[in-house]
Amino acid sequence: MIIKEGLTRLKIPRRYLQKKHFFNPKVELSRDLTTLVLHTLNCKDWVVCDALSGTGVRGVRVAKECPVKKVWINDISKDNIPFRKANVELNSVIRKVKITNQDANELLSENIRIFDYIDIDPWGSPTYYFDSTARAIKRKGFIGFSATDTAALCGTSPITCLRRYGIESYKTDFFKELGIRILIASAALSFAKWSFSFKPLLSFTSQHYFRVFAELRKGKNIASATLKEGLGYVNYCPKCLWRRTDKEPINKCEFCGSKTKVIGKVWIGQIEDLAFIQKCWENISHIEWLKTGDKVKKLLFLLKNESLPLYYDLHKICQNHGLKIPKFKTLQQALIDKGYAVERTHFSCQGIKTDAPLKILIKIIPKCQ
Ligand SMILES: C[S@@+](CC[C@H](N)C(=O)[O-])C[C@H]1O[C@@H](n2cnc3c(N)ncnc32)[C@H](O)[C@@H]1O
Ligand SMILES: [Zn+2]
Repeated sequence: MIIKEGLTRLKIPRRYLQKKHFFNPKVELSRDLTTLVLHTLNCKDWVVCDALSGTGVRGVRVAKECPVKKVWINDISKDNIPFRKANVELNSVIRKVKITNQDANELLSENIRIFDYIDIDPWGSPTYYFDSTARAIKRKGFIGFSATDTAALCGTSPITCLRRYGIESYKTDFFKELGIRILIASAALSFAKWSFSFKPLLSFTSQHYFRVFAELRKGKNIASATLKEGLGYVNYCPKCLWRRTDKEPINKCEFCGSKTKVIGKVWIGQIEDLAFIQKCWENISHIEWLKTGDKVKKLLFLLKNESLPLYYDLHKICQNHGLKIPKFKTLQQALIDKGYAVERTHFSCQGIKTDAPLKILIKIIPKCQ
């Protein structure tokens, strides 16, 4: 059957839609954002690699919708080659595209310093492809990657997380943010090993996946600086839900005095580049063909106003401290009146980000009914 995404028409077999293995229509938002991010990064004449491309949808869309020079559309599966070929032909991008059929690690390891942008969109974890990406990316380049192993990253399977990412996860009330911070820390460490700095530009979660777009630059000093500035600990009290990011582990809860859970090292630096997100926000009006445009705008609006670490889940905080759930707007105003910063978060509609300490939050909530 023929599906339309952006300016691109795609031939997708029905059996792929049923299994959602090689093509998942629900991930259109992520693909729309890839187009927007590449436009915002001025991708003119770039060489791009869609390393795990399935039916080639993301790569074909980049070839069709962005002013890049070349897109390599790779996948290990032979099964989807006819559809990748058909999609390239259907969109008249044959001269811009190179179709390959290799293990992504093999392909990226063999093609050193070729690509300006590499996309890693696996089932599960992207971690297996970071080392080869560090070989294939230019000295200044960009990566976009997804992770769908949310159970490992968000604290349901801490030992799997340790095995894959080198960091033990833990169940918290801000589990989605912790997951993405573990993912980014692990990516930054992998690239630092090859003397690349790692700067997150846009990171988000939607449905069942995490996605991160980041800038990579080669240089020992900047790679070391990335780790020094970005890594630290999430200190968390499972008893009263106090939390704090810090460069050092904090073993005693500052609210109730209990022993804390120290998680890390994780990424405690910014996970969004607010100036870049502002540019994406401005650019979206020039890329009016994105079907999920309204959703993208809503997401960008939240992201460009989201800079504080570790959201509180208001329902969990209230449950834990025996409080009634406050009206968000009233709580927001009360905190602002006391001089604290308040943000909503895309991670959760019942989440609130604030620099107010837990003891202040607990004191103010009962007054905000
Ligand atoms: C989530 S799907 C890709 C979906 C696609 N990017 C999209 O937007 O529709 C993951 C793909 O990775 C491919 N794959 C799995 N292991 C691979 C490997 N080692 N090298 C290259 N491709 C691989 C699978 O065949 C599958 O098509
Ligand atoms: Zn505590």
